[in-house]
Amino acid sequence: MDAKQPPAKSATLTVGNQKWETPVRPGTIGPSVVDIAKLYGETGMFTYDPGFTSTASCESKITYIDGDEGILLYRGYPIEQLAEHGDFLETCYLLLYGELPTSAQKSDFVHRVTYHTMVHEQMSRFFQGFRRDAHPMAVLVGSVGALSAFYHDSTDIADPQQRLIASLRMIAKMPTLAAMAFKYTIGQPFIYPKNDLDYATNFLRMCFAVPCEDYKPNQVLARAMDRIFILHADHEQNASTSTVRLAGSSGANPFACIAAGIACLWGPAHGGANEAALKMLGEIGHVDRIPEYVKRAKDKNDPFRLMGFGHRVYKHYDPRAKIMQKTCYEVLNEIGHKDDPLLGVAMELERIALHDEYFIEKKLYPNIDFYSGITLKAMGFPTAMFTVLFALARTVGWIAQWKEMIEDPSQKIGRPRQLYTGAARRDYQPISRRK
Ligand code: SDX
Repeated sequence: MDAKQPPAKSATLTVGNQKWETPVRPGTIGPSVVDIAKLYGETGMFTYDPGFTSTASCESKITYIDGDEGILLYRGYPIEQLAEHGDFLETCYLLLYGELPTSAQKSDFVHRVTYHTMVHEQMSRFFQGFRRDAHPMAVLVGSVGALSAFYHDSTDIADPQQRLIASLRMIAKMPTLAAMAFKYTIGQPFIYPKNDLDYATNFLRMCFAVPCEDYKPNQVLARAMDRIFILHADHEQNASTSTVRLAGSSGANPFACIAAGIACLWGPAHGGANEAALKMLGEIGHVDRIPEYVKRAKDKNDPFRLMGFGHRVYKHYDPRAKIMQKTCYEVLNEIGHKDDPLLGVAMELERIALHDEYFIEKKLYPNIDFYSGITLKAMGFPTAMFTVLFALARTVGWIAQWKEMIEDPSQKIGRPRQLYTGAARRDYQPISRRK
């Protein structure tokens, strides 16, 4: 369809001798939508779109992605500018309330988040129920789901004040729970948050400090961590965000909805890709073996995919990947790992993939997970913690989208339909007559 034409005001669907006309709704920017809400009621038909590749599930004002132009906007602000000039808690305020905070608003927000960073002391005993070798994501899903057992005074979603408190609690407590999940699996004591540290430094201290010596913050690593949180904060209606919205549409409490989002993010096709990408680089091991793996990635009969490449929306470079690459170099230079062999494999794999006909034709470019894994490994995190960090950062996006859905007067419980191709009606057969 010629994008230069003025947007159509309506669309007509012709099925047999049936014509059905419906409004077309334009967005501020990006694709218009054909409003099919009345399709079934007026024609008796559904649309069919597995994976929702062409379906808008909601109207939103939070994040906009242009996959062809490699654009990502949070409330209209380009991700590059926010990552360069802003910080994560300022970005949280922007995603939640729609505007960058004034100095007074920012101080108040930072204070309120800071004073919610501790978790109920009973949570420490809750953790004791996990095996020490549990995957940190299993621990995080369990502990976040359990928050509604500790903070049931902020689970009434009809009360705006309780929604606000639950939101602040989750943004504030995720770093504490993530660090506890990490410490528990490595057998070290939990480190309490410190209110005089900024969000990223506080998190790194809770992860890497030990009671035996003073923790020395590293500003380069703290800045990199804060930027990684900004890059992962929100991303339209991705799988985990759609999960949070769907869970929230039934009226489930916000802690349960976020736990559902964490569970969905864990999949290797989604947030688990950073862990899978680093494992893949380790398996390739040396630049000489890259052609063998590129060949496997192209083989339709081989389920192997290049983890960290490709995206449902970005059909050119993921703008976050560029910023992630810059952050990766800063961290490796600071740590003194600039000749990290994995980076050598990653750089050569990227070079090959960006010049290979197959990847160009399929528009498979490095996504954010490609460089985040190397960066997080250099910062001292085990691969099993990578998706935990993604979940920590994405919590504000899930909360902002959940808040937008709850406050949308037109929202109703999400309940997709189906194309049924199973057995037509048939009568029960006693076992004596079955063959
Ligand atoms: C995230 O949605 C979001 O916004 C997610 C995210 C966020 O911030 O929330 O951006 C975070 O999840 C990033 C994506 C991380 N996942 C990976 O890196 C895993 C590897 N990538 C693939 O699994 C895949 O690219 C997806 C799942 C990301 C996207 O898959 P699509 O859009 O459903 O595309 P597809 O699977 O239909 O692939 C199209 C073609 C296929 O070939 P054909 O069937 O057309 O012949 O490209 C091929 C695929 O075989 N292909 C790949 C590939 N990804 C797609 N071939 C080799 N390696 C790959 N990585």
